[in-house]
Amino acid sequence: MDKVKSIRTLDVAGKTALVRVDYNVPFRPGSTDISDDSRIRASLPTLRYLQERGCRIVVCSHLGRPKGRVVESLRMAPVSQRLSELLGTPVVQARQCVGEAVASAAALAPGGVMMLENLRFHPGEEQNDVEFARGLAALADVYINDAFGAAHRAHASTAAVARLLPSAAGLLMERELQVLGDALDAPNRPFAAVLGGAKVSDKIGVLENLMDKVDMLVIGGGMAATFIKAQGHSVGDSLVEDDRLAFARRIMDADHGGAKILIPDDVVAADAFAADAESRVVSASAIPDGWRIMDIGPNTARRYADALGECGTVIWNGPMGVFEWESFSRGTAAVANALAGMERATTITGGGSTAEAVGALGLADRMTHISSGGGASLEFMEGRELPGVAALMDNR
Ligand code: 3PG
Repeated sequence: MDKVKSIRTLDVAGKTALVRVDYNVPFRPGSTDISDDSRIRASLPTLRYLQERGCRIVVCSHLGRPKGRVVESLRMAPVSQRLSELLGTPVVQARQCVGEAVASAAALAPGGVMMLENLRFHPGEEQNDVEFARGLAALADVYINDAFGAAHRAHASTAAVARLLPSAAGLLMERELQVLGDALDAPNRPFAAVLGGAKVSDKIGVLENLMDKVDMLVIGGGMAATFIKAQGHSVGDSLVEDDRLAFARRIMDADHGGAKILIPDDVVAADAFAADAESRVVSASAIPDGWRIMDIGPNTARRYADALGECGTVIWNGPMGVFEWESFSRGTAAVANALAGMERATTITGGGSTAEAVGALGLADRMTHISSGGGASLEFMEGRELPGVAALMDNR
């Protein structure tokens, strides 16, 4: 892959930097309480790097999907407050993104930080509008993109603006591209992909791209039901994507250079989709009518953990079961623990619910890398070009 320009090679000393971050963080329902600030923490090295060089910093992000209008509950204020606490310096919260914000940016002291209002309050953001990008570019001398999580979006703050200012990737963006890129292009073998989550259809692009790269494909989560049915078994009331059965069959039947495909041979099944449903471990070939798959079974969990333990690189995206509910969390915990114990291997977990599960188990520090991107890391694993990354390669 072509290299993006690094922040380390850009002259930032004493300049004003527009820094695109992905602070699209979750809140506790109905409150302004951030429930997971890991995306804010992940941006700190870049912000500190700029502060140490006397840079004035204008941070910008989207939050939620306000679709071009002001939504009071999606203002950035709680996020700038948390950033201020984590960074240990005041963060000025602007009311706008462009126009008036220019004067406030100019008034910053060296090392000072300002946060723009939610970029998606402006229709121009998602339209990748050059006029809006010009307004953003007017705030700064250089542009740094550290928003790996939003790199799959071709928006004004991730794409158009990069062509208007000297641009570079921030330290987080750089690490994401490096770790994920190395894993896909030059993995330590054996190389395994562990794919879970609800639907096969969400993972088709990843399966297509990874099948010929990996030595082992490990399937879990709700999507396993489609593979088990494609093997000719009944899966009771499990959610099956019947229009993906042929695809699942094709994946299991093709040779893929000898890659092993691991499918559950036992599962935890429940009589309802509920935390307190009655559950039992059953063979994957004997799921009773009216029951549904909620997790991989203990035998499968052991088999997966043993097989992964032999690997040099593991990429994991998607939980093995409904891990939010205790009775169905053991498969996900078994995989997480297996990866945590692999000290010499490269272990990478994709963003979203996989990161949440690893974090809830207290194992985040034991992984080589937890991607800050959800959709972005999936698209990267699909082998697609990310517009936010492509824009950084096209430097003037
Ligand atoms: C994410 O949370 O995955 C990113 O911030 C992208 O958000 P989006 O799907 O609303 O573009």
